[in-house]
Parts: sequence; structure tokens; C-alpha cells
Amino acid sequence: MEPRFWIDKWKKQETGFHLASAHPLLRKYFPKVFANQTSVFLPLCGKTQDLIFCSDQGLAVIGNELSEVAIEQFFLANQLAPKTEVSQNFILREANNIAIYQGDFFELEKRTFENTQAIYDRAALVALPVEMRKSYAEKMKQLFPQATMLLITLEYNQREMSGPPFSVTQDEVNSLFDFANIELLYKQNIIDKEPKFKARGLSFFNECAYHIQWKQ
Ligand SMILES: C[S@@+](CC[C@H](N)C(=O)[O-])C[C@H]1O[C@@H](n2cnc3c(N)ncnc32)[C@H](O)[C@@H]1O
Repeated sequence: MEPRFWIDKWKKQETGFHLASAHPLLRKYFPKVFANQTSVFLPLCGKTQDLIFCSDQGLAVIGNELSEVAIEQFFLANQLAPKTEVSQNFILREANNIAIYQGDFFELEKRTFENTQAIYDRAALVALPVEMRKSYAEKMKQLFPQATMLLITLEYNQREMSGPPFSVTQDEVNSLFDFANIELLYKQNIIDKEPKFKARGLSFFNECAYHIQWKQ
């Protein structure tokens, strides 16, 4: 997926993935996955309310998103007036304990995450085509010497629909994060709650959550 694809989606406001409030699986598994953490990273964050949820739990929050439209809508919707700092590859906007780096995930630098060992991924890995998912996991490993991660994925028959969102199987998660211990926390077929995807021909649509902990 080229950056232009997502920039255009935001311009046209084709953002069916956006949820009005924090994700139920983040609420459910936050205490287990993020106990004792002081800071959390949300890659490919869009304008998610999950940023607010994590901030409300007392964590410093670092987001990353390509689209300026998404980031501006996030701060506006939450009545936050960010201060802005421009660097070579990113525009950083910060308000309270939420910092969002506008730019390409693959350009992020390790020093940004010196005080962060927690990652929350909802609709980030599944937004990427298969060849980019490998680079995504490698980049995470490079950015974080240690981490605890809550990963939410989707599984469906990829022959029944083209992504995004893409189907990411448990086998693929195991292979992508072979440097970590992986626990499947949750798997549920939600096709009956997703009429849009049912109408696109999906016979099943599993939502999954994993707790991924880098090996020591
Ligand atoms: C499916 S949306 C999910 C957004 C958010 N995580 C949520 O749950 O609402 C994927 C987001 O990733 C952003 N994105 C895609 N590729 C990116 C990249 N290389 N670097 C940063 N953001 C990217 C898109 O602009 C889009 O907002």
C-alpha cells in the first residue's frame, strides 16, 4: 500500500475502520498487557480514541500516522491544542501526554522510544500487504530492544475479499514475531456483527488478540 492510498482515503473520509470509542479488547486486556508501563506506542494510529484511553490510564502516548488530516481531526475532536515541531522526516504534534509523529512508520528512529516498552496495534499490521508485514515486524524489533505488545488482528478467507484489512493468520503472527513469546488471548467470529463484510462475501471474520512479549 503506497502512502498515497491512505492519504487519499483520509481526504475522502473513507475511514470505515474508525471507531467512535476505545476498542473493547484494549479495555479488556490493558491491565494484563500494560501493567507497570509508563509509555505506549500506537503505530498507524489514525485518529483513534485508543490514544485518549491510554492517556487516561496515565501513560505517555506516542502515536504515528501518515495523514495530516487524521491527526488534525484527532486533536480537534478532543479539544486539544497541540504544539508543533518540524524535523526532517516528521511533524511532531504534542498536547498533554499525547505525541503524534506525522510521517512514515518505516522512517521512525529508535531514540524516539528510549522510554517506551509497550506497543498497541489495532488495524496497523492488518492494514499492510503481506510483504510489508514482514518489514513491519522487523522494524518493531529494531525500534524496541524490549517490548510487551497487544496486537489485534483479523482472519478471513483472503480469496473471498481483497484487503485492506488483510487477513493475518495465527501462523503468520508466530512467524513474524518469532523473536517473541506469543499468547493468543482471544479469538471470535464476528461476521454476524459485521454486515458490511458479510455483504462483501466473507463466510467468517475472526477477530483475534495476542499478547506478544519480546524474549529476554
Ligand atoms: C486501518 S487504519 C487504522 C487506524 C487506527 N489504528 C484505528 O484503529 O483506527 C490504518 C492507518 O495507518 C496509516 N498508515 C498506513 N501506512 C502508514 C505508514 N507507513 N506510516 C504511518 N501510518 C500509516 C493510514 O493512514 C491509516 O490511518
